[in-house]
Amino acid sequence: MPERTIFRGIRLVDPASCHDGLTDVLVEDEGVSAVGDAVVAPAGTEVVDAGGLVMAPGLVDLHAHLREPGFEHKETVETGSRAAAAGGYTAICAMPNTEPVTDNLAVIAEVRNLADKAGLCDVHPAGAITRNLEGSSLTDIGEMAQAGVRLFTDDHRCVQSSRVMRLALEYAKAFDVVIAQHAQDDGLTEGWQMHEGYYSALLGLTGAPAEAEEVIVARDVALARLTGGRLHITHVSAAGTVDLMQQARERGLRVSSDVTPHHLTLCDQDLVHYDTNLRVNPPLRSEEHRDALRKGLVGGTLDAIATDHAPHALEDKEQEFDQAPPGTTGLETALAVILTELVEPGLLDLLRAIELLSSRPARILRLEEQGGPILPGRAANLTVFDPDAEWTVGERPFASMAVNSAFGGRRLKGRVLHTMLRGRFTVRDGEPVW
Ligand code: DOR
Repeated sequence: MPERTIFRGIRLVDPASCHDGLTDVLVEDEGVSAVGDAVVAPAGTEVVDAGGLVMAPGLVDLHAHLREPGFEHKETVETGSRAAAAGGYTAICAMPNTEPVTDNLAVIAEVRNLADKAGLCDVHPAGAITRNLEGSSLTDIGEMAQAGVRLFTDDHRCVQSSRVMRLALEYAKAFDVVIAQHAQDDGLTEGWQMHEGYYSALLGLTGAPAEAEEVIVARDVALARLTGGRLHITHVSAAGTVDLMQQARERGLRVSSDVTPHHLTLCDQDLVHYDTNLRVNPPLRSEEHRDALRKGLVGGTLDAIATDHAPHALEDKEQEFDQAPPGTTGLETALAVILTELVEPGLLDLLRAIELLSSRPARILRLEEQGGPILPGRAANLTVFDPDAEWTVGERPFASMAVNSAFGGRRLKGRVLHTMLRGRFTVRDGEPVW
């Protein structure tokens, strides 16, 4: 007997088909088989009374750290996939700062195998731009691209050499893949602990100026112009970057960017209690920068919201501020943070929020099956959430192995109830299916 589920009277928010309204959605086996009013479901179909709930295409994350291989005490591909499913994600791009580094086909294959075994989320390993993330010699981008790798990055390191970056963008063009830059000039950020400004002076911590990001973005935009390669700036944190991306867009360059929920909602003054869960890279900046990021997102300059899910072990974070490694988890809170902080106050409408969390990142990664449209014949990669359900971050155990959330203790609105990967529930009625 085929598995069938019908969601009756659900608010379907599907940017790819420009749909925002009440409808029925029938899912059979792996795919969507009907969308419309009063859909007739065959006998035996499970009925979900979905009044008040929202269905969206499964969320897609351009930037998550899963830590395996090498740092399995922080997170594994399986626990990271659980966190993704719990947060409504059906596809994520896994960062290459593993041990060994994901800079060759063998490690790519290992991450893919682990993800397939977990079977909870499509995991797309990103390839490193340079061998061992050392910034000097290029990896075999062509070989990895031919094996289906779609994005290359040296995240949490910035490619400092203009020559290496130029070559990477040239390869990227030849193989139609994306080069994602963690934009940070090493010469301006040595020993940094937080954003450079009033609060770094007040707290006695070493600052990293926003200009350290801008100078690299300006250079890389020039290199994108020179090469015609696809450039992506990840976790944008500086107002100047928004301006540079806007200018690049106006000149018709192939550029895109993402911003994290924490950079959109928190700022440097939140560090006054030296909470190490707020130590992130790039650092939380001033209110002016945060407001510029919001404006860039709402106005369409920034393309996507990415989590930079960066799990760390408790003992890593329970250190002095300057010793704690940067990073916050994000997969399980991203949707609710955006709903609570940007959609609820009316800064962003829901259709656009879903576009930024799903359709656009799917397009950047060229994922055919993800990001909608939710139409008959399409794979059923879906998330269903209750936009009005309130919860407190940390009140229930995280699916991630890590607890280092920048939003711990926050009251948020919007809870994922169901996540479906190719028609199979990975989360059902708010409970994990694993
Ligand atoms: O906060 C961060 N943590 N930013 C990065 O770029 C890297 C990440 C990590 O790997 O922990």
